Amino acid sequence: MHRTHTCGELRREHAGQTVTLCGWVNSYREQGKELVFVDMRDRYGKTQVVFYTDDDTKIDGVARKLRREDVVKVVGEVCYRGDGLVNSKLATGDIEIRAQQLTVLSKSKTPPFEIEGTELPNEELRLKYRFVDLRRPELQKSIILRHNLVQAVREYFNTRDFLEIETPMLGRSTPEGARDYLVPSRVHPGSFYALPQSPQIYKQILMVAGFDRYYQIARCFRDEDLRADRQPEFTQIDVEMAFVERDDILNTIDGLIAFVMKKIRNVDIQVPLPRYTYRDVMERYGSDKPDLRFGLEIVDIGPVAAVCDFGVFKGVMSSGGRVRGINAKGAAEKYSRRLLDVDLKNFVGDFGAKGLAYMKVVGDKLESTIVKFFTEEQQREILTRMDGKDGDLLLFVADTPKVTNAALAALRSRLGKELNLYDPSQFQCQWVLDFPLVTWNAAEDRFDAEHHPFCQPNPEDAEFMRTDPSKVRADSYDLVVNGYEAASGSVRIHDSEMQQVVFDLLKINPEEAEMRFGFLLEALRYGAPPHAGIALGLDRWVMLLAGDDNIRDVIAFPKTQKAADMLTGAPAPVDARQLKDLSIEVAKLPEK
Ligand code: AMO
Ligand code: AMP
Repeated sequence: MHRTHTCGELRREHAGQTVTLCGWVNSYREQGKELVFVDMRDRYGKTQVVFYTDDDTKIDGVARKLRREDVVKVVGEVCYRGDGLVNSKLATGDIEIRAQQLTVLSKSKTPPFEIEGTELPNEELRLKYRFVDLRRPELQKSIILRHNLVQAVREYFNTRDFLEIETPMLGRSTPEGARDYLVPSRVHPGSFYALPQSPQIYKQILMVAGFDRYYQIARCFRDEDLRADRQPEFTQIDVEMAFVERDDILNTIDGLIAFVMKKIRNVDIQVPLPRYTYRDVMERYGSDKPDLRFGLEIVDIGPVAAVCDFGVFKGVMSSGGRVRGINAKGAAEKYSRRLLDVDLKNFVGDFGAKGLAYMKVVGDKLESTIVKFFTEEQQREILTRMDGKDGDLLLFVADTPKVTNAALAALRSRLGKELNLYDPSQFQCQWVLDFPLVTWNAAEDRFDAEHHPFCQPNPEDAEFMRTDPSKVRADSYDLVVNGYEAASGSVRIHDSEMQQVVFDLLKINPEEAEMRFGFLLEALRYGAPPHAGIALGLDRWVMLLAGDDNIRDVIAFPKTQKAADMLTGAPAPVDARQLKDLSIEVAKLPEK
């Protein structure tokens, strides 16, 4: 070992000992001609080292040449800094090292940005110099948090009879809805593997094979549009259980969340976690992943809207739409006319809303350019429905059910943040159950699976399978945390005939089903136990636990929004020989 201690370890009781530390030069400052102070840093912390000119002129000569991010080794004596000189901001602030020997293990070029700079450099630069970026204490904390979370997850499952089983990276395309990343086969020219979008089919087959409790920290790959909470390559905590029902999965995951929160944050989470139905949250919050750290529920004023004289509301009601609103409590004075008519209106416009109507509550009356279209009684009805009190701001969107949901859900999130309605460090988890089995895809004149094609339809909705499939609920569930979808799963179909019924609904004909998932259908014919499962987005969990809103900050080597790896330059062209081996020719690319 080059060192006797880490840079975060030494305390007052070590005073008098001679120690050896290794680390990076975090900062460097000279005090007059006699003293050089160097803060050394490693992942455990920082320690101040002092070089005295009179100690050893050789050290002094080298010490004065040190620069930020040089890697050094220092032998010296631990000294108590003295009463009044203690740095309480530093864990090692009681002491400093009086240097006796200094070795420069490695010089650093001038780093592209400061490790502890107050302003974050642009992200492309950070990702290109990720080895420097990862030295930042916040990132180190997130990476360590991620490690601790994974260990806690493994401990939880390992002590409950679950087996960790790996499934292939090179496999057949699984239908999770995104585009696949393909890998060409050299041995089978013209054929391709698909990187897994999730281990979904393999884990179901593991259930058929008798491994009734499975988990895996699984890498998944999806070629889809990226957002702040999405990466093309991400990690799931993947779980599957046989001989279970929905509640067994929910209880198992409740237990996991409680276990992990206790271990990682030392907080006691109340379980069972609250459970809502999809219909309920869509009605009250307009979203299947509402942030429930605050209220601001959406309220229906349809019955008033249908009979008032405001053309927009009336028209929307008569064409089967909805008029719904949010009461921004006490916010009447916070939003100027300009903010309402331009800013917020354009904001909801991005979600398809054609306008944003608003009324302010003054005393027990409504004020707005549109109140003239409502009778006294209708105004009272609005106040009652919206629970309008003096100083409140009532905001309304009239449109199709889909647009009112999307626009009001987004507005609700924005208001929650702008009006400081929640504590950002709070951790609010809830289940959303009973998603629709399918959604109508007008462009392709067929239904799409809402989750994936292997979800068990709710037996109570059997009659709708023929009459109105959009009304069929799946036996599926999402775990939502602070407005993020943090996990998703379902009870699976374990009967090949029922599986074919669902494929029919999705217009996947028997030949196609046989071609794409024949191996699963075949497995289901050889004694498949009832089974169910779930997958938690590990990266999202770490992001939420770290209090971050950028998924890239919790992944050591993430990709940009354009799926590029700035560090290595991937993706990159390959040489002609490699392509020839794979029997691949690249089409002429369009001019950039
Ligand atoms: P699903 O597709 O909902 O379900 O994924 C499960 C969870 O994984 C996380 N997640 C992502 N995280 C980061 N980047 C992405 N691109 C990304 N996509 C998904 C989310 C999500 O809730 N096979 C099913 C699970 C099952 O039914 O067991 C599946 O993959 O947190
Ligand atoms: P107008 O009569 O078009 O000038 O609209 C009067 C008010 O109603 C404005 O504040 C508009 O933003 C609002 N408005 C128009 N269309 C809608 C709609 N579909 N939903 C909610 N408000 C609307």
